[in-house]
Amino acid sequence: MVISPTAVGTTRRSRAQVIEMHLDTLYQVSQVLSCSSGLQDILSGVLHVLHESSDMRCGMVSLLDPGTGELMVGAAHTGTRERVDKVRYRPGEGLMGAILKEGDTVMVGRIADEPRFLDRMGLYAPDLPFVGVPIRVGEDNPIGVLAAQPICGDDGLLEERARFLEMVANLLAQTVRRAWDLEQERQALTDERDRLRREVRGGYHLDNVVGHSKEMRRVFEQVRQVAKWHTTVLVRGETGTGKELIANAIHYNSPRANGHFVKLNCAALPDNLLESELFGHEKGAFTGAVSQRKGRFEQAEGGTIFLDEIGEISQAFQAKLLRVLQEGEFERVGGTRTLKVDVRVIAATNRPLEEEVERGDFREDLYYRLNVMPIFVPALRNRSEDIPDLARFLVDKLAKAQGRPLDITDSAIRTLMRHEWPGNVRELENCLERAAIMSETGTIDLDAINLTGLEDKLPLSRKPEPEVEVDLDDPDLDERERVIAALERAGWVQAKAARLLGMTPRQIAYRIQTLKIRVRQF
Ligand SMILES: Nc1ncnc2c1ncn2[C@@H]1O[C@H](COP(=O)(O)OP(=O)(O)OP(=O)(O)O)[C@@H](O)[C@H]1O
Ligand SMILES: [Mg+2]
Repeated sequence: MVISPTAVGTTRRSRAQVIEMHLDTLYQVSQVLSCSSGLQDILSGVLHVLHESSDMRCGMVSLLDPGTGELMVGAAHTGTRERVDKVRYRPGEGLMGAILKEGDTVMVGRIADEPRFLDRMGLYAPDLPFVGVPIRVGEDNPIGVLAAQPICGDDGLLEERARFLEMVANLLAQTVRRAWDLEQERQALTDERDRLRREVRGGYHLDNVVGHSKEMRRVFEQVRQVAKWHTTVLVRGETGTGKELIANAIHYNSPRANGHFVKLNCAALPDNLLESELFGHEKGAFTGAVSQRKGRFEQAEGGTIFLDEIGEISQAFQAKLLRVLQEGEFERVGGTRTLKVDVRVIAATNRPLEEEVERGDFREDLYYRLNVMPIFVPALRNRSEDIPDLARFLVDKLAKAQGRPLDITDSAIRTLMRHEWPGNVRELENCLERAAIMSETGTIDLDAINLTGLEDKLPLSRKPEPEVEVDLDDPDLDERERVIAALERAGWVQAKAARLLGMTPRQIAYRIQTLKIRVRQF
């Protein structure tokens, strides 16, 4: 659209009036800069103020595209509306390109007389003047161009108008720079998030679940099958067999891999906290609920929730969980609104759930609901042929963590294979970590293994009959003796010992700390 001098019909103003008008406009521009949020809104807002309040029309901001080095129109005011065209100028091309390249203000008395004027936007009245100024931060090269057309012909005040536009450009420059910096930071954060996501996914790729025994190959096959579907999966197996690793592998190999994998250890929290942790709570639902909070189920929307140690939850909570599994529905604690979520549930337990159902400790309906697709991760003692690969894999993992090369000798591996590993892969991992610390050279040999105290724990075949077991209910036992006896009976697996004593894992951890019991690490 072209505006003719008659169309704008201006009255001639004095120099003082023009300067006062410019000051007022600058004030309004500064308000736009401090209020608007996005760069696009700011550009449009500033051009709108120029158009409405000053004697400059058809403002246009072009910004440098750092990728191509070209000027790209960021916003333009046509007189009736703002528009953004995909018009570009190469450095030096036309009037705009010349301002960007030279970095100097350009004032033209009558735009039609300017040979470099390309009129790509079709905005300007040919008989009126034109002012274009570079947008630059400090002494650096310009990052863009601000151009506009005074509404009156040559009245001897073109210089004043150019100074005014330069001031607007200076104000804009800071904002554009900040917006670019923010965008760069946001991009860097997004890249980092994607990289970490890829890394996490890579870490749980099935390649990282080591094992080639018949038992483990069956597990891998089951993981691949169930990963494709939405079915609830129950991962079972002794402590340290890799249940959590398998749950991760299912998620990261499933169509939900881009969603969240949210984990909750059900044994770590008492009932009331477990409920608000899983389902969230409304503001004021209980003392301390100062604001509304989303629960893990809501956080896992579109992804997977992993309920570890599911065998530990109370009867009351079992009923609540059954409803989510059946209907996908729940209410936040203290809330009345029913929420629906699309979440895949993977649960894990090392408890013999069937026996608990038999005894009436675990709801039968919940058991069937969870057990749709059970995966049994075999104990390490039943697949000792996996130990060499596992040992080498774990030694590599330790080497990365310790930042030095590590290796393990064949004789050390043979010794590892003869052991029973009641704490399974986790115990093997801890034993190797201790051995690595013992090894100054970085080679884990028989000596390093023996230094970990492994020879004290006899292999299955040579294990003597257990000594007369301490009666945990013996009233003569003091608390410390009772906890130690339970830990010994549980092979020093704290969760198991806690169960023997009817405690939660947290409670036993607290007792161990306060009674100063030195825990034998596996
Ligand atoms: N097949 C495997 N390949 C590689 N690493 C494994 C394997 N199985 C287990 N691990 C490692 O052993 C450790 C214990 O595994 P994980 O935590 O998954 O066991 P878990 O069955 O969940 O134990 P718990 O019942 O005590 O919670 C982890 O560091 C895991 O990475
Ligand atoms: Mg676990």
